Amino acid sequence: MRHGELLIFSLAVLGAVTAQNDFPSCSGFVGCLGEPECGPYPNLLRPNRTVNNCCPSCVDHVVLGNDCDPEECLPGLDCKNGKCALPATGTCQSYEHRDLLWKPKCELDGKFSAVQCKGERLSGRCYCYSEDGRRIFGQQWWSKAENMTCGCSRKIEALKQQGRVDVTIHCTEDGNFDTLQCDSGVCWCADNITGQTLGEVVPEPMMQMLPCYNATAVGDSYLRRCDSAEYALKVIRDEMRTHGTVGDAFVSKNCGYDGSYGEYQFESGNRYCTWRDNSRIGSFMVGQLPPGGMNCYCARDSRYFQESGYLFTMLCSGDGSYIPMQSLEDKTVCVDKDGFPYAEIADTSEACPSLPATPYVLTEFEFFKLI
Ligand SMILES: *[C@@H]1O[C@H](CO)[C@@H](O)[C@H](O)[C@H]1NC(C)=O
Ligand SMILES: *[C@@H]1O[C@H](CO)[C@@H](O)[C@H](O)[C@H]1NC(C)=O
Ligand SMILES: *[C@@H]1O[C@H](CO)[C@@H](O)[C@H](O)[C@H]1NC(C)=O
Ligand SMILES: *[C@@H]1O[C@H](CO)[C@@H](O)[C@H](O)[C@H]1NC(C)=O
Repeated sequence: MRHGELLIFSLAVLGAVTAQNDFPSCSGFVGCLGEPECGPYPNLLRPNRTVNNCCPSCVDHVVLGNDCDPEECLPGLDCKNGKCALPATGTCQSYEHRDLLWKPKCELDGKFSAVQCKGERLSGRCYCYSEDGRRIFGQQWWSKAENMTCGCSRKIEALKQQGRVDVTIHCTEDGNFDTLQCDSGVCWCADNITGQTLGEVVPEPMMQMLPCYNATAVGDSYLRRCDSAEYALKVIRDEMRTHGTVGDAFVSKNCGYDGSYGEYQFESGNRYCTWRDNSRIGSFMVGQLPPGGMNCYCARDSRYFQESGYLFTMLCSGDGSYIPMQSLEDKTVCVDKDGFPYAEIADTSEACPSLPATPYVLTEFEFFKLI
């Protein structure tokens, strides 16, 4: 089976009923008859194309620069003035059409996959990404990332989007669920991949009885070091607020989703790049927060490489981020915020091509809730 639309016969029972409806609901379908095998490129699977827009089918797509009307452009392209063109902001798939070295992993619906790996399998690293392409908490060496799902990091992002500020779900360093979870005074063991509750739920003081409790890793309090500090500050802040005195020293801590210290901390008017234990990394700092924010990814990586026994040769700027232009094996390359080359240029007199802006916007500043 090749080009053209392939009809999938649905086992729909209610499908026929909703047929005359302008807004069909897929909830009545028993299911579609499997997923068709599409190809060759640009014949691709499109979700929800047939049977009331509920079943997938194969569709021939138009490539960048070709006439689109009335044919459909490849995912990630827009039909502009009759031609398939790159949209101003775009979806995850838009990266496919850009002349960049990194192509993210995308979902069929245009969202970024949760785990995004960069570089090479041996020396590369994987990161957790939000659906709209922002790097979020959680990273691992690619060679060790086979079980990385970022399910926990994605879950916390979702809860924050809903406006929850008191999230106490804990992740591991790679964005998976921690096996011991506590929230609202009760604790339980969780599956590290799905986050599903395993076994019984006990009051927090009884957490030692849980099979997933590890005294070395947890200590007496479930809250990790940064979380504990943040909790103590919150108590002081609440106390001070009743007296009307609020000071600079009581700014929120920037904690990772695993309860460790985040990339940077605020102290006496400055922001310093910090490691997971709150120790400062080099002298990387900013006084005034730059418009693009502060990420300390380069400063952090220098320590991350060191802890893993690797040599770190990249150049960081004073605020701890990667300098966009780097030399790599006699070549001049432009690197992204994570320090991975996305373009090669002739020499340092040439400017780096700009990256699509939207997917790289950082929102970590929600942590700095100055009261
Ligand atoms: C696509 O179909 C699935 C069921 O197969 C349904 O859950 C989903 O809401 C549909 N999406 C749209 C955009 O209609
Ligand atoms: C991934 O999970 C499988 C099954 O639980 C396990 O055997 C394997 O060691 C895990 N890999 C890593 C890198 O943790
Ligand atoms: C998940 O938990 C199981 C059982 O506690 C453990 O064997 C496995 O190594 C864990 N996997 C990861 C990726 O942490
Ligand atoms: C408990 O945690 C420590 C530190 O993270 C780790 O080295 C140790 O292997 C863990 N023990 C068990 C039984 O999982």
